[in-house]
Amino acid sequence: MKVLVIGGGGREHAMAWKLAQSPKVQMVYVAPGNGGTALDARLHNLAITDIVALRQWAQENKIGVTLVGPEGPLAAGVVDEFRQHGLRIFGPTKAAAQLESSKAFSKSFMRRHGIPTAEYATFSDPITAHTYVNQMGAPIVVKADGLAAGKGVVVAMTLEEAHAAIDFMLVDNTLGVTHNEGGARVVIEEFLEGEEASFMVLCDGRNVVPLATSQDHKRLLDGDNGPNTGGMGAYSPAPVVTPQVHARAMREIILPTLKGMEKDGIPYTGFLYAGLMIDAQGQVKTLEFNCRMGDPETQPILMRLKTDFLDLLLSATEGAGGTSFENLELEWDRRTALGVVMAAHGYPAAPRKGDVVAGLPKESDDAMVFHAGTALVDGQLQTSGGRVLCVTALGDSVRQVQQRVYQNLQGIAFDGMQYRTDIGYRAVKG
Ligand code: AMP
Ligand code: GLY
Repeated sequence: MKVLVIGGGGREHAMAWKLAQSPKVQMVYVAPGNGGTALDARLHNLAITDIVALRQWAQENKIGVTLVGPEGPLAAGVVDEFRQHGLRIFGPTKAAAQLESSKAFSKSFMRRHGIPTAEYATFSDPITAHTYVNQMGAPIVVKADGLAAGKGVVVAMTLEEAHAAIDFMLVDNTLGVTHNEGGARVVIEEFLEGEEASFMVLCDGRNVVPLATSQDHKRLLDGDNGPNTGGMGAYSPAPVVTPQVHARAMREIILPTLKGMEKDGIPYTGFLYAGLMIDAQGQVKTLEFNCRMGDPETQPILMRLKTDFLDLLLSATEGAGGTSFENLELEWDRRTALGVVMAAHGYPAAPRKGDVVAGLPKESDDAMVFHAGTALVDGQLQTSGGRVLCVTALGDSVRQVQQRVYQNLQGIAFDGMQYRTDIGYRAVKG
């Protein structure tokens, strides 16, 4: 079978790498892919990003199943386009992807269906937003309504920061947010305390299968300092997700979400990612939904997946509400996987492109360097985006895998590279 992966980040490199391991896969195409997928003989880059052109290409080339990595094409309706033409594709429809593409949609969905999340209000008028913030006080969280590539959230520790965020999102409008119908809006919500974890499941419209748990590191600098990023490193499993927390997340968040979407007439198919905030009492609240797998969480998670990834996608796309999923149990490597992101000079504000990347280690069964912002230019590997590489490995403990990854990373070099030296620290404290 020929398969297509849409996207060009580290997550998509990991997805393509995993699919290529399936004995039933004849060729994996990655559109548009990156320098790493270009270098890999088992993968083939495709320079198409337009959704209709991709669908036509998939028809002409008899692609058996398509997997969508990022939120952009999902929110633009790639799943609807492929399905309308009888093509098999794994992901949510445009309507279902609103769980991520509109904070206003996902918050009102959660309120309506009793899914635990922070208290909130939605505003399009800056004056009422400012008044609300003054009433509520700080700390408080201001979120842009549309897709903003991880830059649409300000956790304001002071009222000044909150007011500035409102002006920035509603008045200046310089964030580069893809606005939803009705123009710029913000969601202002209660500040939650606790430890975060990434909780991802696979949905076929009715049934769900949880993936292994993981934890991301969103801030640029060690100790969770500095600006928010797309994610600077992740590991799996995340011990903060105890069996009790896991059961609560399934019972209070994931299952009601699936049921609620079905009831609202928008059955959810695809990966669903709930960002969890877990408090000291083990109570779980939903910080956000993403309609896809996380990046970089996917890289360590797929390193641990032993089940054939193609089989998984095929059973998930057999038909909404199919029974093939019901008894599906995924098999995971018992070891811990951990990935450290190496980012470009200037990331996240203004990443520089064109730096030469050298010293990549050889790939092995339990160590892999996934590429994200890299490109092959005249046979030379160069940086081409903010997050450049994710150096990933398996190990018997968090401490051991940390050592391994940081050792493998030593030889890699490009001008201006930035990475955190403490990925996994929450799991090794004490
Ligand atoms: P989001 O894109 O909604 O996940 O927000 C990005 C990051 O902002 C999250 O990973 C949290 O670290 C932080 N955050 C979002 N909402 C809240 C909240 N209500 N309370 C505290 N921190 C939050
Ligand atoms: N790493 C967080 C995300 O993918 O949204």
